[in-house]
Amino acid sequence: MVMTATESGTSAARSFGPAVALSCRECGQQYDLGPRFACEQCFGPLEIAYEFGNVSRESIGRGPNNIWRYAGLLPVPDNVAELPNMNPGLTPLVRADRLASEVGLRSLHVKDDSANPTHSFKDRVVAMAVEAARTFGFTTLSCSSTGNLAGAVGAASARAGFRSCVFIPAGLEEGKIVMAAVYGGRLVAIDGTYDDVNRFCSELIGDPAGEEWGFVNVNLRPYYAEGSKTLAYEIAEQLGWRLPEQIIVPIASGSQLTKIDKGFRDLIALGLVEDRPYRIFGAQATGCSPVARAWEDGHDVVQPVKPDTIAKSLAIGNPADGPYVLDVCRRTGGAVVHVSDAEVVDSINLLARTEGVFAETAGGVTTGVLRKLVAEGGLDPQAETVVLNTGDGLKTLSAVDADVTATIKPSLDAFKDAGLL
Ligand SMILES: Cc1ncc(COP(=O)(O)O)c(C=O)c1O
Ligand SMILES: [Zn+2]
Repeated sequence: MVMTATESGTSAARSFGPAVALSCRECGQQYDLGPRFACEQCFGPLEIAYEFGNVSRESIGRGPNNIWRYAGLLPVPDNVAELPNMNPGLTPLVRADRLASEVGLRSLHVKDDSANPTHSFKDRVVAMAVEAARTFGFTTLSCSSTGNLAGAVGAASARAGFRSCVFIPAGLEEGKIVMAAVYGGRLVAIDGTYDDVNRFCSELIGDPAGEEWGFVNVNLRPYYAEGSKTLAYEIAEQLGWRLPEQIIVPIASGSQLTKIDKGFRDLIALGLVEDRPYRIFGAQATGCSPVARAWEDGHDVVQPVKPDTIAKSLAIGNPADGPYVLDVCRRTGGAVVHVSDAEVVDSINLLARTEGVFAETAGGVTTGVLRKLVAEGGLDPQAETVVLNTGDGLKTLSAVDADVTATIKPSLDAFKDAGLL
């Protein structure tokens, strides 16, 4: 049913906190909050519209030490913190002075989302999808995934008491496969790319057999996507209620990047931070860089590609939010940049060596792009900068060569003989 935001307010307030409607990103048409994701008028993607109540720095500060401190800015029920969930968030914002001086920046922080329960930022978005699934009465949680999302859905389903069935492209890293399977749900590998997996999932939703299935990144996508806003909220709060001037964000579907922008705009609109300019930069691996190519060519549309990169978590050849990423980067004065697999590996090592943060390949992509931007003059070296690490290096061990220094007998002589003292 098509209705206005105000009409839907009462029922929405019961289950989805400040969320009042779904709104088409293309034509602005509004719909009731429900498990729908595409506009009936123009097929544009739907996103959550809000009527925020009283949210202050103090009320947030009194909240729990996880993403639910921002519940007043998310599509979740008021009692969300009491429901069984993974409680992700409040990950470290690491002051990265050594990395800053290596790359040539005055002020740099690494937002280290590998500290989430399943070691990637996906726990944030899945937490939103779980609450939507509860409200809509889905019994099975599902997703198409490049690996991290599958693990997050498996874990969150186990905690919240859902069945789960997740779909991945065959050939992912072992760490991601184990993490997706260990929680007891079904894990199905599909012989194809992520884009093939996603197409298959859309077919499954269309089948009557898929009726009770909540696909976190398909029919629950408008709710799920809002979880990425918590990254924006946390960074601002951890900086002392200030927006960073520059931020580097990895792109797979592009949802995280566009929602970080939405989160910053929420904070400004609510007067929680000063309205000052910020620049958002998107990061891709050269072997899957459809958005960066469109950026370079000055296009508004994104031409799909077939991925071939070690950054498998970012290997989406046809990114749903691609055109919106271009809009955000243009509007904020950022850019979309890509780096080679060799640069990704170098940058994983650089981040580990300078800051003690072991990133998965996605963090190598953002750090590589940071380095490239500084070298090419694309970043202001004086401006306060944040780079995201969205996943844990233990998930992509095979990307790096890290050898023991020497293998010796357990004696002082042997240690000396090896020239190590
Ligand atoms: C580690 C990691 N970082 C970043 C992303 C990008 O997410 P998005 O699809 O929101 O662009 C993903 C997506 O799977 C991921 O696994
Ligand atoms: Zn529309």
